[in-house]
Amino acid sequence: MREIASRWQADASALDPALPSERKVARIVERHLRSLSVEKKVGQMIQAEIANATPMDAAEFALGSVLNGGGSSPAGDKRASVDDWLALADAYHDASRRRGASRDGVPILWGTDAVHGHSNVYGATVFPHNIGLGAARDSDLMCCIAAATAREVVATGIDWTFAPTLAVVRDDRWGRTYEGYSEHPELVVEYAQRVVTGLQGVAGDPGFLGPGRVLATAKHFLGEGHTTDGHDQGDVACSEETLRDLHAGGHRAAIAAGVQTVMAGFHSWHGTKVHGHEYLLTGVLKGALGFDGLVVSDWDGYLQVAEDRREACAMSVNAGVDLLMVGVDWRQTYDDLLQQAVAGVVPMSRIDDAVRRILRVKARAGLFSSPRPSQRLCAGDRTAVGHPAHRELARRAVRESLVLLKNGGVLPLRRDANVLLAGDGADNIGKQCGGWTLTWQGTGNDNDDFPNGMSIFEGFAQAVAGKGGTATLSPSGEFTGPAPDVAIVVFGENPYAEGDGDRRHLSFSAHDSEPLAILRKFKERGVPTVSVFLAGRPMWVNPELNASDAFVVAWLPGTEGGGVADVLFRGPGGEPQHDFRGRLSYSWPRHALHTPLNVGDIDYSPLFPYGFGLSYRDGRRDTSRLDEADAAAGIPAVDEHRVSGWTYPR
Ligand code: GLC
Repeated sequence: MREIASRWQADASALDPALPSERKVARIVERHLRSLSVEKKVGQMIQAEIANATPMDAAEFALGSVLNGGGSSPAGDKRASVDDWLALADAYHDASRRRGASRDGVPILWGTDAVHGHSNVYGATVFPHNIGLGAARDSDLMCCIAAATAREVVATGIDWTFAPTLAVVRDDRWGRTYEGYSEHPELVVEYAQRVVTGLQGVAGDPGFLGPGRVLATAKHFLGEGHTTDGHDQGDVACSEETLRDLHAGGHRAAIAAGVQTVMAGFHSWHGTKVHGHEYLLTGVLKGALGFDGLVVSDWDGYLQVAEDRREACAMSVNAGVDLLMVGVDWRQTYDDLLQQAVAGVVPMSRIDDAVRRILRVKARAGLFSSPRPSQRLCAGDRTAVGHPAHRELARRAVRESLVLLKNGGVLPLRRDANVLLAGDGADNIGKQCGGWTLTWQGTGNDNDDFPNGMSIFEGFAQAVAGKGGTATLSPSGEFTGPAPDVAIVVFGENPYAEGDGDRRHLSFSAHDSEPLAILRKFKERGVPTVSVFLAGRPMWVNPELNASDAFVVAWLPGTEGGGVADVLFRGPGGEPQHDFRGRLSYSWPRHALHTPLNVGDIDYSPLFPYGFGLSYRDGRRDTSRLDEADAAAGIPAVDEHRVSGWTYPR
């Protein structure tokens, strides 16, 4: 361990054991640990999905935790109300505290993917995905977003979010590129500390994990963004030094900020699944880096460690996983682990260490002394979910995330202009939001699923209202009568999540040629165009850039589409009201196969470099005509034959 620690430059853990609160935590932990049978200890190590485990199951098996996976909600109702979420949280809490006649059972933990706002919940504020927040380069903003998200999560009675994602993304073909802040560790490290603090509060302060705060998760440990060819759940072949120096900074910063949970990644390192990697999970994370919270598996991730599920379960727990996130069959996993514990395949010392960590996190979160969720401060605050202040914060985040790649002089727009909004993203809040929104993949949503949202078109209509201008919606770009003064063509990737978003190359028009046709038709008719590109990654869009007078990258902006118009229009005095401030946190490819492409590469030659972004102060900055030969011509955009690392029954 000493040798590992020296190589990993161990950091001091954030929570000082001498703190009075830590001494109280230790007493609670030891008292409850002593009171638990081996069956109850195993129950504490199981996290079941709310669709598969009732509150009664939680009581009977002393389940340590539940989660709602992407798209899962009370009674499977996508439009479940805050009261519905809260009632279910109360039911699980009450059941977990009940132990015979007493009420001193171990309280249950509920985890959710509030990864860009509380985005599973109807009416919640959906913030830009991390790739856009990376472009904003604003760590104060990150802390505010995290705190606002925590308030919305607490309002629904939930204790824990599986965020932030701390991936340093090295190949943009990866379907989770947009969940990362950047390709470079500097931003990931800076943001990690701010987001964890925004979610949990300042470690060691009285308010730490107090009212209005939730547990955070550093995920996915370690190096997930470096898989070969960007395959989700694939193999990472980089050196240990690269893992340490390129990928571990965010996790170290999160640990130093007091993060209480870490999620293991689905990927493997040099052919060994992280979920079974004792060196990484125990030697490095818990030993060298001093992490004393709990390690949670990813969705059935432990099952990938070996063919036999009972063997896999034991290998994963022995490697350092403390809490098993079970997609469906939690009873089987419970039986598997109990049998392996009784047989001594998983030593009782490992079981006790895992349960100690789980109890420690619950005690630090104050759960042993908290009332039921609905009676906690900030819980049940229906006004918190989609609060106007949160929406304004999200709109500010949208403004700050926009990156201007080209401005042929058509921006900023006058508010008395006649504007036509074209493209399938113009009035499509679901497309604005991307994956991890109401549903796992972010698909199947329409505008009335977002009562507290605004489409980009609605933002334009708001901008010209009463100013003598007009905003007309025409997704096809067709119009009759006089030509518009300018056409805004909003297009981009359709929502996806995880491996479903893996691509074989970065050519946009290879899987959607419609926007280019629309842009070219406007050009033929002499109508100036502004492209607004919705994407979870940089893509090869040279033809679309050539056909646009201005090109704005909006990433996946979330529910506050009005933030786009805020920047594209002049203010009342005719000056730009908000200038572009977004700067690329991912390098932009010169051609469709130009990946991996990362700042610092020896032969680094992007179309637009890391840190690039124009502003109005730069004046007219056209680009010379770009090469339109598609290097990916004939290559399917999606690898139909990709053997997905894992497909889950969602
Ligand atoms: C998923 C993701 C992980 C998420 C978990 C629960 O498979 O990999 O990021 O937190 O399942 O939804």
